[in-house]
Amino acid sequence: MGILDGKRILVTGVLTDASIGFHIARMAQQEGATVVLTGFGRMSLVERIAKRLPEPAPVIELDVTDDEHLAGLADKVSAHVDGLDGVAHSIAFAPQTAMGGNFMNTPWGDVATAVQISAYSLKSLTAACLPLMKSGGSVVGLDFDAGQAWPVYDWMGVAKAGLESTSRYLAKYLGPDNVRVNLVAAGPLKTMAAKSIPGFEEFTDVWPERAPLGWDVADPEPTAKACVALLSDWFPATTGEIVHVDGGVHAVG
Ligand SMILES: NC(=O)c1ccc[n+]([C@@H]2O[C@H](COP(=O)([O-])OP(=O)(O)OC[C@H]3O[C@@H](n4cnc5c(N)ncnc54)[C@H](O)[C@@H]3O)[C@@H](O)[C@H]2O)c1
Repeated sequence: MGILDGKRILVTGVLTDASIGFHIARMAQQEGATVVLTGFGRMSLVERIAKRLPEPAPVIELDVTDDEHLAGLADKVSAHVDGLDGVAHSIAFAPQTAMGGNFMNTPWGDVATAVQISAYSLKSLTAACLPLMKSGGSVVGLDFDAGQAWPVYDWMGVAKAGLESTSRYLAKYLGPDNVRVNLVAAGPLKTMAAKSIPGFEEFTDVWPERAPLGWDVADPEPTAKACVALLSDWFPATTGEIVHVDGGVHAVG
């Protein structure tokens, strides 16, 4: 028996086998879920990675900025499962100009891209999946604690603050439909998205020392486990919440 037995889960954001989304999909399957993936851009790579899951999973193309992709998503998912019980949003992007210490010079167009893909998309994706969540469900997004200004994270930090607020509003508006919306605020992990942040070592160098529980930047499993737990029935009265999976860094000075 797994905690996701019988659940149908859509997992976004799988790019490589280091992607947090890959590990959510893997653990969701191990806990009994049927998983459908979405991929962006490099579809042949995503399809190859999808075959490395315990059960090869179907992949649907989804650019969260493309209205046609969003409008067609529910139909495409329906070709594989007869509804959804959960959605994992594991998507973020910011242009290079928006990170790495360039905060004062980033043009609005680049900020807008970061906010649309990394924050607004939680609403777009959830809305696109709602027709499949007739009896409710669980939406989980990936956060990096936006309660403070970090080195180099810059406008991605602003986008994450937007993501945190978006999840609270979604929790407010979708609670009556029995849809829960929560975030997992992970510590730094070595993924493609992380490598694209200039100066990311500023996090990975200090985090393992600062974390009361320690922190392994190469181990996405604790983060994926928390996502799977939130996708399960074991948090039935929790919504609008941010669960920190960061070794405890957020709690110490
Ligand atoms: N790696 C970390 O240190 C860390 C820490 C905390 C939170 N997170 C968050 O975890 C999530 C997943 O990132 P990751 O670290 O696994 O990196 P990743 O690069 O493996 O995943 C990011 C995903 O976003 C997708 N994406 C980008 N633009 C898109 C678009 N327009 N439409 C649809 N998908 C798009 C990419 O295709 C990719 O699959 C992100 O929200 C990230 O901010 C990461």
